Amino acid sequence: MILVTGGLGYIGSHTVVELCENKKDVIIIDNLSNSKIDVLDKLKNITKCDIKFYKGDICDKELLRKVFKENKIDSVIHFAGYKAVGESVEKPLLYYRNNIDSTLTLLEVMEEYDCRKIIFSSSATVYGKPASLPIYEDFPLSTTNPYGTTKLFIEQILKDLYTSNNKWDITILRYFNPIGAHQSGLIGEDPNGIPNNLMPYIVKVATGDLPCLNIFGDDYDTIDGTGVRDYIHVVDLARGHVLALTSQKTGLKIYNLGTGRGTSVLELVNTFEKVNNVKVPRKIVERRPGDIDACFASCDKAKEELGFVAERTITDMCRDSYNFVKKNS
Ligand code: WQD
Repeated sequence: MILVTGGLGYIGSHTVVELCENKKDVIIIDNLSNSKIDVLDKLKNITKCDIKFYKGDICDKELLRKVFKENKIDSVIHFAGYKAVGESVEKPLLYYRNNIDSTLTLLEVMEEYDCRKIIFSSSATVYGKPASLPIYEDFPLSTTNPYGTTKLFIEQILKDLYTSNNKWDITILRYFNPIGAHQSGLIGEDPNGIPNNLMPYIVKVATGDLPCLNIFGDDYDTIDGTGVRDYIHVVDLARGHVLALTSQKTGLKIYNLGTGRGTSVLELVNTFEKVNNVKVPRKIVERRPGDIDACFASCDKAKEELGFVAERTITDMCRDSYNFVKKNS
């Protein structure tokens, strides 16, 4: 069985769908701090699978022990964690305590039950401002906010753990910018409050929930001056996790999961308008502190070792993101 921590969240839920479609037995543990319990029924509806669910926090060692005692868990896909960059700057202790403490507790209980296969949800944010593009997995690592630093610290904990005992099978997946939603429109990105990230903000402007998209700067060194990112469809990202899980390669592995292509803010919002035949009022404002000009992945290693190739286009991502909100508003 596969334990998915944070499995009711945006990326976790899409990964659960792909796991079930690949006939894997899935258990979810989620504390619902950034997800909704109705996602569980939607997952059962999409997959027609019986998905076991434990409500709770992976900082709770006794709960985790109960999960491992009651189920034969072969591997863990670890998504659970706080992930708002801005909030992490305001509340660093909350982020360090939650993201690192929960991971340490998870790893300790895994060790107690001799479960040593883990896939960790990391982020391209660990690369900081890259010296060149595309970004390769062996690029220097540096972070500019506590959220990113928790990812960096957890990566280091995993590397040290592997060095101490090479029976561990550890895969670190560094996501670029996941957007989009499952084609059913039943699950998707549903952040609480005003979104920090670009696509959920665009969607809320398109639906009229927010008046205007603020484009954070148009004086970057990019094709049109606005920020460039490597947007990857969340279903492609989810499929990357299944490939990582079923890979015959063991040991400590690190992969970028992106498309290898950069898209600017203006390109994304204009594509969104065209694909969905909606207007997204926008205005250029000041840069957002901590943002970098451009970021996109080299995906050669994931392609070569996992057979991973992102297939969905920016058009697919824009269509699916809006489809989800229309079906759930
Ligand atoms: C994308 C582009 C903004 C909002 C962050 C985290 C990363 C990962 C993904 C968790 C940038 C511009 C955005 C808006 C804008 N999160 N923008 N107006 O900053 O690349 O990455 O989210 O794992 O770790 O760092 O994503 O979507 O916030 O921004 O102009 O209202 O859109 O300046 O160029 P980012 P984003």
